[in-house]
Amino acid sequence: MDSSHNLPTVALITGANSGLGYAIACRLIVEFFNPGIDGYPAVASDPGTLIVCLATRSVEKALSAITGIDTFLASRLSEGARSRLKLAHITIDLSSPKSVIAAATELRNRYSRIHYVFCNAAMVPFVRIDWAIAARQIATNFIEAMTVPRYKVQGVGWLTEAQSHKSHAAEPLPELGAAFAANVFGHYYLLHEIMKTLHASVAVSETPSRIVWVGSIESDPLTFDIDDIQGIKSNRPYESSKTLTDILVLGSYLPEAQEYFRSYITIPMSSNYTAPAESIAPVFLIAHPGIVSTTIVAIPWWQTYAKNVGFWLCRAFGSHWHCIDPFIGANAPVWLALSPHVDLIKGRKWGSACLWGSGEMVLETQVDSDVAAQSAHLWSQMETLRKLWTTTLES
Ligand SMILES: NC(=O)c1ccc[n+]([C@@H]2O[C@H](COP(=O)([O-])OP(=O)(O)OC[C@H]3O[C@@H](n4cnc5c(N)ncnc54)[C@H](OP(=O)(O)O)[C@@H]3O)[C@@H](O)[C@H]2O)c1
Repeated sequence: MDSSHNLPTVALITGANSGLGYAIACRLIVEFFNPGIDGYPAVASDPGTLIVCLATRSVEKALSAITGIDTFLASRLSEGARSRLKLAHITIDLSSPKSVIAAATELRNRYSRIHYVFCNAAMVPFVRIDWAIAARQIATNFIEAMTVPRYKVQGVGWLTEAQSHKSHAAEPLPELGAAFAANVFGHYYLLHEIMKTLHASVAVSETPSRIVWVGSIESDPLTFDIDDIQGIKSNRPYESSKTLTDILVLGSYLPEAQEYFRSYITIPMSSNYTAPAESIAPVFLIAHPGIVSTTIVAIPWWQTYAKNVGFWLCRAFGSHWHCIDPFIGANAPVWLALSPHVDLIKGRKWGSACLWGSGEMVLETQVDSDVAAQSAHLWSQMETLRKLWTTTLES
């Protein structure tokens, strides 16, 4: 991408130290330097440099991920390709707008363009398993129970840490639900703060940056309340945050939300930057990994073991969503970034899938939310909250 201008291609991945984010980093690098393998079209036969910036909550986590990625790549990349790859890192806590602003400032200073952002980091405010519901769901529909579990009891009303301690803060901070902040708002705020790096130049025929949001097959309009977009009153705040993500991404193409989307993609003046007369805004895309084995829900080792056996049984029974291996789950997100057909794939939700013996696939995934009816209201609410946080932090 844009190699004719000798600019490195830059990819930013949040939550890159574990699970899917780590797998996205590995897969992106492999596919970028070896286009055509695993059924990928030859899109990125790019002689330039690739910078993969791992966004994590601590330097230690990033360095450990970099060591792991290096080992993974040892047998998969030629020396020439390895010399054109740079692994960088940045520290960010997406639950804290202050931390987001600090990371954004650093990113703007480092990179003039960021070509791909994978909004992957997320948390589940998990409390415990409801064994009665688990037994009922497993007995009545095993594959559904291992795909959209209704027995994850989640914390209701959980706020971010800064909010929990707000009585000690000098200024009252706007309310932020814990899952909403990490999964949606932190990314939303970050993207706006680095908007300058996400605009492509018309003058030098650059292609638009791609923002790949990681959604979930667990999105469900029944978990989402348009009057509680942060999911603070919800007993399924994780699913609520993923449903909101679907609507924001898919709504970004609809005329109903354009007024707010345009305000959002405008480069902030505080960037000390004069926008070119004509530039190309980034495109929002959404992918999900199917079901993969990660530690996003912290459960004891024996439950993890049982969960993985359950996943394999689902695969054996023909479930195409049980990718299990995060590297396979990374297929759809990486495909959205590298595909030459962005105009054909945008505005739809894509998922990683695989079948026993048939290899990997990327499948379009149905979205049950009424995106057209809700997108303008939700984009407007997100913009209001973003501006409120900006004013609060500037005061
Ligand atoms: N696992 C699945 O089957 C599945 C299915 C559908 C969708 N997904 C999606 O896949 C994505 C990755 O999840 P995963 O399964 O790979 O889980 P994971 O291994 O727990 O990864 C989550 C990552 O997000 C980071 N993170 C959480 N809160 C953060 C915050 N406030 N600031 C910065 N980073 C934060 C975590 O960092 P720490 O290490 O510091 O906690 C971790 O690196 C999520 O968007 C999830 O919704 C997963």
